[in-house]
Amino acid sequence: MDHYAVFGNPISHSKSPFIHTLFAQQTAQDMSYTAIEAPIDDFEKTLNHFFKHTGKGCNITLPFKIKAFAYAQKLTPRAKLSGAVNTLKLTDDGLLIGDNTDGAGLILDLNNHHIDLYNKRILLLGAGGAARGVCGALLETQPKELVIANRTHTKAIELASIFDTYGTVNAVAFNDLFGTFDIIINSTSASLKGEVPPISSTLILPETTIYDMMYSDKATAFNLWARKHGARLILDGLGMLVGQAAESFALWRGLKPGSAQVLNKLRQHLST
Ligand code: ATR
Repeated sequence: MDHYAVFGNPISHSKSPFIHTLFAQQTAQDMSYTAIEAPIDDFEKTLNHFFKHTGKGCNITLPFKIKAFAYAQKLTPRAKLSGAVNTLKLTDDGLLIGDNTDGAGLILDLNNHHIDLYNKRILLLGAGGAARGVCGALLETQPKELVIANRTHTKAIELASIFDTYGTVNAVAFNDLFGTFDIIINSTSASLKGEVPPISSTLILPETTIYDMMYSDKATAFNLWARKHGARLILDGLGMLVGQAAESFALWRGLKPGSAQVLNKLRQHLST
């Protein structure tokens, strides 16, 4: 039986085994998927052991995505652009390929909600690893403009410069944001602390899609703030989590599982 796993530290909270076990059942794949905690300073050794035995592929989560980028023997173009790897696949000829499915997972979730970004104005809040992981996929949808705004403005400028050959990307300070947006995506870790990036509520129209890449069993601080200011379509990152998993699964097994049912079950599981 082919073995897959997610590596992180800590890892006990990971929803990936739940998701991939449902995907495997749904698509009748004979495989197992477990969560493995790698020691912070022994990530490479833990992975060597996994791939020397029955391991065929894995997901990588915090804090190892950059180490996995260095560990991969070959990188997909989107992994190179992201500067991080969340998926490794061992090919039949023994090559370890590093990929990043986070951006594709976000777009898959938006598509599942019938949200089309073509020619739209996107505001991306944050300029850390999570933001970098989705910029390429957002620009592939050919929006009118991708605006990146971050508390530390220089980081937004750096991120915009990485992607400026892929479309219209501008770094704008929180205070200088103007107009309205078709979608506002929060990639900051502010929601983890119950905080909201200091942007004006006038940027939101009732028809602006709000997307917090964070999720929890309750609405995130950002999503509560957006609801208070009149947004009607408000999503959290649970769909993106299932989406990136579906993209990883497709890379390993050659077929894409359906996300909707798994997302519903995961939402129920989260609230119990
Ligand atoms: P991740 O990999 O989750 O993106 P990260 O690289 O540490 O984590 O980046 C965290 C992001 O959240 C950064 O953009 C950070 O802003 P700074 O670059 O100014 O640090 C942003 N962030 C964290 N807490 C925030 C808060 N309370 N308000 C606004 N932005 C916040």
